[in-house]
Amino acid sequence: MALIKPHGGSLINLWEPSYNYESVEKELQLDVMALSDLELIGTGAYSPNKGFMNKKDYESVVKSMRLADGTVWSIPITLPVSEEEAQHLSVGDEVRLLHNHETYGVITVSDIFQPDKFVEAENVYRTTETAHPGVKKLLDRGNVYVGGEIKLIKRIKRDQFADFYFDPAETRQEFEAKGWKKVVGFQTRNPVHRAHEYIQKTALETVDGLFLNPLVGETKSDDIPADVRMESYQVLLKNYYPQERVFLAVFPAAMRYAGPREAVFHAMVRKNYGCTHFIVGRDHAGVGNYYGTYDAQLIFSNFTQEELGINLLFFEHSFYCKKCESMASTKTCSHSKEDHVILSGTKVRELLRNGELPPSTFSRKEVVEVLIEGLRKTAVKA
Ligand code: ADX
Repeated sequence: MALIKPHGGSLINLWEPSYNYESVEKELQLDVMALSDLELIGTGAYSPNKGFMNKKDYESVVKSMRLADGTVWSIPITLPVSEEEAQHLSVGDEVRLLHNHETYGVITVSDIFQPDKFVEAENVYRTTETAHPGVKKLLDRGNVYVGGEIKLIKRIKRDQFADFYFDPAETRQEFEAKGWKKVVGFQTRNPVHRAHEYIQKTALETVDGLFLNPLVGETKSDDIPADVRMESYQVLLKNYYPQERVFLAVFPAAMRYAGPREAVFHAMVRKNYGCTHFIVGRDHAGVGNYYGTYDAQLIFSNFTQEELGINLLFFEHSFYCKKCESMASTKTCSHSKEDHVILSGTKVRELLRNGELPPSTFSRKEVVEVLIEGLRKTAVKA
């Protein structure tokens, strides 16, 4: 059986390591977010995008969650520069894209434009408050956007968890080699707690494989560091999951914290990695109280199943119920809140940082041990 089609029909591949850029004189510095976006465009994770968005696509995405040609796309992929940098650029230029003095790619400039960042914040993040980490990031970045198709010339060096980096073409091959026809993708920026495990395994009951795809790009400073999380995922999988049904690979994108809009983006990207299904639970990609618990599920009703092209698996808020003596959700359990073990992310981080163990009904002992040890080491280093 053929694998699921990438978003837009074909997998983009702009990886050109031997591209001769010696005569390209103009340069732009990429921040960490733009660097990760460059790579994800180049490897096809952001198919059908072939570059940083031009004005037409950008405005269409901000306004209506679609590229200018109508394809579903919910998050602007932009290359922000300062006004001063923009003055040295012209449409038609080829420009080197640098990070730490190394050339990672080139862009052929097709557009240089001034975005209305407040409209972007309001539409994409549903707030203009700078207390929102995504909005703060948006406003901190350059005020002019450069659009144009890219070439990816150099890959980011993998110092950490090198074994878990796979491009979409590679994950597709892996799924095929495993004979998985139905693959459910799972996005996370947190340790996998019992609620996550519950919804993953519930999904796994009806599909062939689980693609555990933690985001390891830029996150806000109080999220658990990716290296600690990666260790915790491995110990969890080793002890509690059937090895032949799970595939762990990192998603090297920056977290936007855009809640509903980011859920759509996460789903489209996982489709490019070859997933046929994608899990969206409670407050997906949310932060603080900016989004309603199920907004990230409701947003998908703006699109038809055909244009999404991936099956969404929505889950209710899940927890351990002391009366049921099992994991459950508001959909399957009639007991009261007092019987449910629910801890906020903030509360858990506080416990872990103090070396205290959250209950085993909340998180597996092996996971907690890794997290406490990892955070202790991180604190020593910092
Ligand atoms: S996210 O920012 O990457 O979405 P997190 O890692 O916490 O954050 O969530 C990963 C996925 O699990 C998301 O789809 C989220 O909606 C879902 N999820 C997290 N906690 C629960 C829970 N208690 N019940 C149901 N779904 C949950």
